[in-house]
Amino acid sequence: MVDFQQSKTKENLARSFAAECQEGARYQFMAQTAMQDGYTYMSALIRTLAHNEMAHAKQFFQMITKYGGDNVQNIDICAGYPFRSGTLVDLLKLESENEHSSGENIYPEFADIADEEGYKDVAKLFRLIADVEKSHEKILVQLHEELKGKTLYKCCEGEGCFKCDECGTVQTGKCAPVECPLCHQPQGYYRINITMNRMK
Ligand SMILES: [Fe+2]
Ligand SMILES: [Fe+2]
Repeated sequence: MVDFQQSKTKENLARSFAAECQEGARYQFMAQTAMQDGYTYMSALIRTLAHNEMAHAKQFFQMITKYGGDNVQNIDICAGYPFRSGTLVDLLKLESENEHSSGENIYPEFADIADEEGYKDVAKLFRLIADVEKSHEKILVQLHEELKGKTLYKCCEGEGCFKCDECGTVQTGKCAPVECPLCHQPQGYYRINITMNRMK
């Protein structure tokens, strides 16, 4: 096993910790944007993503303290992080691209390095988190496509069921009611059906 202090894995864990914290923060900001735009249910979905990122950050942090013990006072990292703004549609697209690079490229590469350096549990963690980031990408791609195409609350074929997340009423139709007939909340309170199989 490569000495932790000298390992590339130490730096990769610190880089990933920083990335997850920033991602969590950006999702919190995006959730606020979604809320302001009236997409209440989408805002809650995005907050769940933020929550997931903080859970990933915690695991990376704990790996650093597990192997670094009291010897890790400070880790210098050289890495780039995204700072971009835009509309909700833009942000969904940007974040789906970020998730793609973490899930498909960065974390699998870090996992291989951890394997080579003898940190099997770190390699496993990177691979497990990569899978979550891939699922995040799918969610964001769907939300982006449907928000852009104005099909978030439309049924693709015939009639569908739409459930209000506020009061629980289920309404049938070609699209979700503009205003909930039971609790009178706007359409943004209605649930969005996330279909995880949309992207292979
Ligand atoms: Fe994450
Ligand atoms: Fe993610």
